[in-house]
Amino acid sequence: MDLQGARILVPGATGGIGGALAVRLHALGARLALAGRDLDTLGRVSAACAAAPVRTFDAWDLGSCGRTVEWAAAELGGLDGVVVCVGVAAFGPACEVDEAVSEHLATVNALAPMAFLRAATAHVSRGGVLAAVTGIVAEAAPAGMADYAAAKAALATWLTAVRRERRRDGVAVLDVNLPHMETGFAHRAVSGEPPPLPKGLPVARAADAIAEALSSGARLIRPGSGGELEVVR
Ligand SMILES: NC(=O)c1ccc[n+]([C@@H]2O[C@H](COP(=O)([O-])OP(=O)(O)OC[C@H]3O[C@@H](n4cnc5c(N)ncnc54)[C@H](OP(=O)(O)O)[C@@H]3O)[C@@H](O)[C@H]2O)c1
Repeated sequence: MDLQGARILVPGATGGIGGALAVRLHALGARLALAGRDLDTLGRVSAACAAAPVRTFDAWDLGSCGRTVEWAAAELGGLDGVVVCVGVAAFGPACEVDEAVSEHLATVNALAPMAFLRAATAHVSRGGVLAAVTGIVAEAAPAGMADYAAAKAALATWLTAVRRERRRDGVAVLDVNLPHMETGFAHRAVSGEPPPLPKGLPVARAADAIAEALSSGARLIRPGSGGELEVVR
């Protein structure tokens, strides 16, 4: 995808990764639609992106995810890409996780990204990209993060299947499989306390890798050697 003029929706644009990505894509010439649940933060990100249009949604309301895609396509006159940066963690032994927390994690980390990208398939055509942030927890399945890791694994599997479905259409499906990043994400968990964590990678590195992956039609971003992120085509 040529990022210059590309019409891209970023759900989760209020977050550390989504916000940095939006600013980077804007700097590279993309035309953005920004979505999140906090209007003030959206306004600040929009101001850094030449007043890109904004809309609120809540990932709990899966219908609002689809409606946000329709809104973005109408605002931008079509869609070339969607990069879902929504997510939330919880910590603690699986046997102690409240069912409401488990449902929350599955909805925000798996079902909402799927709802965004499902709706986007009607708009994104050859040369376009459907993308979502998963995480190395999907493979590593660390103790104390079972429901978060399982939700990310579900999303990663869904992306793989959709990539197979869309291959002939020339639509790239990108799995942004990130290691621990320095955004404060773990400290915004809906329940439990994170374990001691090493310093994460700078968020700019995720923005660099996602921009490179979008422009090259890559299928995967994953941790590489020496603290780098590898972009796999
Ligand atoms: N940071 C890491 O170490 C790391 C590693 C691997 C993968 N990831 C993934 O990267 C993505 C972005 O995380 P981040 O590090 O940028 O953390 P973040 O700053 O906490 O961003 C999370 C984003 O998700 C949004 N969100 C959470 N619950 C929502 C809901 N119910 N409805 C709508 N939006 C909701 C947040 O909105 P608000 O601004 O309103 O809270 C925010 O925009 C997530 O999918 C996360 O799982 C992060």
